[in-house]
Amino acid sequence: MTLKLREQTLVLEGGRRLSGSVEVGGSKNATLGAMAASLLVADDCFLENVPNIDDVEQMALVLRSLGCLVEWAGDRTLRLNAAEITSSCPDRELVGTLRGSFLVMGALLGRLGEAACPPPGGDIIGQRPIDVHLAGFRSLGAETEVSHEMFRAQATELRGSTFFADYPSVLGTQNTMMAAVCAKGVTTIVNAAAEPEVQSLAAMLNQMGADVAGAGTNTITIKGAGALHGMRFRIIPDRIEAGTFAIAVAIAGGEAEIRGVEPSHMQGVEAKLRQAGVDVQTSGDVMRVRADGELQALTLQALPYPGFPTDLQAPMAVLLTQASGVSTVHERVFDNRLGYISDLRKMGAEIVTTGTTAAIITGPTPLSGSALTALDVRGGAAFILAGLAANGRTTVSDIYHVDRGYERIDEKLRSLGADIERI
Ligand code: EPU
Repeated sequence: MTLKLREQTLVLEGGRRLSGSVEVGGSKNATLGAMAASLLVADDCFLENVPNIDDVEQMALVLRSLGCLVEWAGDRTLRLNAAEITSSCPDRELVGTLRGSFLVMGALLGRLGEAACPPPGGDIIGQRPIDVHLAGFRSLGAETEVSHEMFRAQATELRGSTFFADYPSVLGTQNTMMAAVCAKGVTTIVNAAAEPEVQSLAAMLNQMGADVAGAGTNTITIKGAGALHGMRFRIIPDRIEAGTFAIAVAIAGGEAEIRGVEPSHMQGVEAKLRQAGVDVQTSGDVMRVRADGELQALTLQALPYPGFPTDLQAPMAVLLTQASGVSTVHERVFDNRLGYISDLRKMGAEIVTTGTTAAIITGPTPLSGSALTALDVRGGAAFILAGLAANGRTTVSDIYHVDRGYERIDEKLRSLGADIERI
């Protein structure tokens, strides 16, 4: 699937206002965690509201390389069955295609007492070490080893303990949680990530029979070694997809409804859009976004949850090129996630960077249509949003990066009135 889409390009004519309504899908990152968690049991696990995106297909291949059955069982529902795990190490090439693949480590260590994994891939957005994951495994009594480009963890018996995470890593917290549900006794993760995707994994583990408390705060407690079983679990809405559409409407101007959101996950985005002068109203699972007037400059910091999400930092920076005044953007999660900025400058944006984590944006500046190449999933989405605001034609090539995380982004934007085509 990925290879087939590699050559595709999106072509946009800017300047159209957006209106209408669009539905968000299930969360990419919550799905990847849930798929890995299915390795913990020998029963069927059904995941509902799964997005049809390339990263899900890739994760399915990773799990199949371990002997896990993964198949679509109806619209947006995946059936996974890990009754017969045939390997404790996934295929190297597949693991190299996405970061989330490393989540099989925690689940395999919990289920089998041993796991190995080559270095995971993922977007090039800074250093992405694995130290928190490995320290989490070690705190449960596992021995870890890194050699020949292979991470290994092994334990005769996993035992609960207090684990202080040096950084509240999302995948590091999830990996530790999955091993800890199989450990004897109580595990406390201090300085845990609080992201909704961590909360979602905790909810799924509890539905499997585990006892996980505190997810959503920075201390998570897991009473381990209870019997786990299969279940049916609904994936949470994708807060990043929802935020991307909200920012798109703000940039292009217009009025639209974003349906199927979880409002409590959208607070950072809502606060910043309002500060920029955008009218945002949420009722039930519908977010209404109206942007008619001038956008205002602001200060943005991308932070761990509940701070403003790093995955929306690039889309928001595009918005700030259209805002009056001087904005500052400070990326405080990843150390190299401003790679998209040189292309925005090429389009006419006035942006000065200081180092690889901070940018000063002066606006509003007209953007002119350009030929851009997506470098990663969120930077690619930001280029599409820049194309909505630009005068004339913008092309975004290597769109497979965006398809990893957004389902039919072109069709959804077109349904809102954008002039966008895939060639
Ligand atoms: N970090 C460490 N040690 C570790 C792990 C991470 O120091 O062992 C540092 C990283 O260097 C980075 C920071 O912690 O500076 C944040 O990394 P984190 O581990 O929290 O990110 P992640 O778990 O690798 C997930 C999402 C990302 C999202 C981040 C932050 C998945 C598959 N990926 O990555 O999603 O940006 O959390 O919210 O869940 C995306 O969807 O586009 C994406 C990149």
